[in-house]
This record gives sequence, C-alpha cells and structure tokens, in this order.
Amino acid sequence: MKKILVTGGLGYIGSHTVVELQNSGYQVIIIDNLSNSSLDVLEGITNISKTPPAFERLDLRFKADVADFFKRNQDIEGIIHFAASKAVGESVVNPLLYYENNLNTLIFLLQECNAYGIENFIFSSSCTVYGEPDSLPITEDAPVKTATSPYGNTKQISEEILKDTCSISPLKAIALRYFNPIGAHETVEIGELPAGVPQNLVPFITQTAAGLRKELSVFGDDYPTEDGSCIRDYIHVVDLAKAHFIALQRLLSKHNETQFEVFNLGTGRGSSVLEVVNSFEKTTGEKLNYKIVARRPGDVVSVYADTKKANEVLGWKAEKTMEEALASAWKWEKKVRSIQ
Ligand code: NAD
Ligand code: WQD
Repeated sequence: MKKILVTGGLGYIGSHTVVELQNSGYQVIIIDNLSNSSLDVLEGITNISKTPPAFERLDLRFKADVADFFKRNQDIEGIIHFAASKAVGESVVNPLLYYENNLNTLIFLLQECNAYGIENFIFSSSCTVYGEPDSLPITEDAPVKTATSPYGNTKQISEEILKDTCSISPLKAIALRYFNPIGAHETVEIGELPAGVPQNLVPFITQTAAGLRKELSVFGDDYPTEDGSCIRDYIHVVDLAKAHFIALQRLLSKHNETQFEVFNLGTGRGSSVLEVVNSFEKTTGEKLNYKIVARRPGDVVSVYADTKKANEVLGWKAEKTMEEALASAWKWEKKVRSIQ
C-alpha cells in the first residue's frame, strides 16, 4: 500500500481528497497545524472511509519539525500539498504571513523530497494566477498575469519554485489550478467551515439562508456580462478531490509527459453571481435575502476554464452539477447549524 503525505489534510479540499485516496486503497498520513481546521474533521473522514488516517499536528513553518517528520516517515511515496493560508484580503494586510506560510512550507517539503528521494508532488495552485484573462475559456497556456494580491503571488512563485526544482532533480510535480471549489461531501460528514465572516460566495449564501447573516451583498451588477454580475467556474469539491487522486496516479505510474505539469480544474462552465443565487433558491426552495452593492475591488469580470487538457491528458472530467454542489453545501450548513 503506497503511503501518501497530505499536508493540510484536515482542511476543506484536503479532507475530501483524503477520503478519495483512502477509498482507493492508499495509506494516508496527514499533517495539519489546525490553524484553519479542527480535529473533528478526522472523525468525519473516518466515518466516511471507515479508516482513520494517520495524523500529526505539525506546523510546516518549522523546518526542524519537518525534517524530524521525514526522518520518522521514510516510506512516503508522494505528497499532496494543500497546507497554505488562502484569504486574499488578509494577504494584503499581512503579506509576510502569506509569504512565510505559503513559500517556506513548500521549500521545506521540497528539501525533504530531495533528501529522501521522494519524486511525486501535487501542488494546490489557483486560477488566480491568470488574473483578468485575455480570452475565454482559459487554457493552461494563457499568460500568468502580475498578481493582484500577495496570496496570488505566492501561488505564482510556488509554481516557479516547483518548475526550477523539477529541472535539476528527479522530482515530478503537477500544479493543479483550481477554479472555484464549492459544496460538501454527500454524507455531510465533511464540508467547508470558514472561520469568521465568509469571503467566498457560496458559504456566504448558505450562512445567509441559515440566518447567520442578514443578507448577501452581490458585488456589482454593472459588469459587461449578460446580467451584469461576475462570472466564475464553480466546481464540486468532490470532483476536485478525485482529480488529485488521478494526478497522483499519473505521477506514480510515470505517465507524466514533462517533469512539471499544470492542469486547470474547472467545469468549463461559467455562472454569474445572480445565476448562483437563483440556482440556490430553486434547488433548495430557500428564499435568499440579497441586495446589489458596489463592485468589490480586485474582482475580475469573467473566469472559466478550458478543460480540454484536464479531460484529454489527465483523463479527468468534472461530473457533478452546480445544483448538486449547492444542494450539498446547504445540507452541510444545515447540519453544522442543527437546522432541520
Ligand atoms: P483550508 O484552509 O480549508 O485548508 C488548508 C489546511 O492547511 C488547513 O487545515 C490549515 O489548518 C492547514 N495549514 C495551513 N498552514 C499550515 C502549516 N503551516 N502547517 C500545517 N498545516 C497548515 O483551505 P482549502 O480551501 O482546503 O485550500 C487548500 C489549498 O488549495 C490551499 O493551498 C489553497 O490556497 C488552495 N486553493 C483553494 C481554493 C479555494 O477556493 N478553497 C482555490 C484555489 C486554491
Ligand atoms: C465569487 C464571485 C464575487 C462574495 C477567490 C480567490 C481566488 C480563489 C477562489 C484561492 C465574485 C462574488 C462573493 C459575496 C459576491 N481562491 N461575491 N458576494 O473571488 O472568484 O476567488 O476564491 O485560490 O484566489 O480570489 O471567489 O467566492 O470570493 O467570489 O457577490 O459576498 O462572487 O464578487 O464575483 P473569487 P469568491
């Protein structure tokens, strides 16, 4: 049984990926410092896959602790690296936290890969690297634009670090550029648990429907889109999780074409904010309080993936609909808030 390290495996996307890995027979060890997650997630994962994953509470910013971990775990064959700070606004206010947490942790892990001959590495990147795209849908060849936040910059720099490391070592890496992950596991044992006021659209919607927030602010209806609101590519988190398992298999079976590869993970379908709101109301039967407010600074108009490379080269395709994702997000919110 192959042993895979999942950093940030108690987080939103990491926990769903651990479930997919365990259900496919991989042995998983999770590292998480619980900075944006809780130990309850371990129980959720175990309830779904009937196997408790190994877990170490460890902060990847501490190089000596990372080195000690690998000394004790020399049978790791691959790493999926989710652990990072991800709040765009916070990164503007506290850039050094983001550069430290998102870059040092990657560097320390790669140093251990070199030391112990670990050759398989999957990295959580983001569609944010494309900025405001020149054309749609966005292919992987689209230019990486100057980042508009320190968070976005850490993803761009991380990809460069990986590319450079792959060019001088046996390391093989895949950067997965996620579009907008939403939804929860169908069992609602795990899902998204944002700390504080949610910055992302769907958790804000479900918290509003649950009565935690008075109303959703729709940031702008004067964009050059059909209904005037921004367009994004919303992808079910379980589809996203499955892509990690497929990408890992690609590396382990040496089917990668180059040592550093990049894939878009999206559905290929763009939905406007107002479409998401309408779809949520229709799918769940809940009426949502919302009002149109001014544009949010830094938002790009329209972003959705060209999925050809992921479909044809990686052999992965998003299968779930946005309606399924919104229904699962609502089911999860109701469970968390004990709403019948
Ligand atoms: P998350 O915050 O739910 O999960 C990240 C996990 O990493 C958390 O459990 C946190 O406690 C842990 N962590 C953070 N710093 C750590 C450290 N120094 N040492 C150990 N553990 C640490 O985030 P997520 O939404 O699951 O995102 C996972 C990855 O995907 C991140 O790299 C994020 O940047 C990237 N990403 C997320 C989205 C999104 O919209 N959710 C989109 C694109 C890319
Ligand atoms: C989606 C749409 C908002 C909240 C962010 C990061 C990006 C990536 C994914 C990690 C936008 C609108 C939102 C609200 C609204 N993360 N909105 N009212 O901005 O596409 O991307 O998450 O890599 O880096 O920037 O996602 O969910 O914040 O917004 O109208 O209360 O919903 O304006 O059009 P975004 P989001």
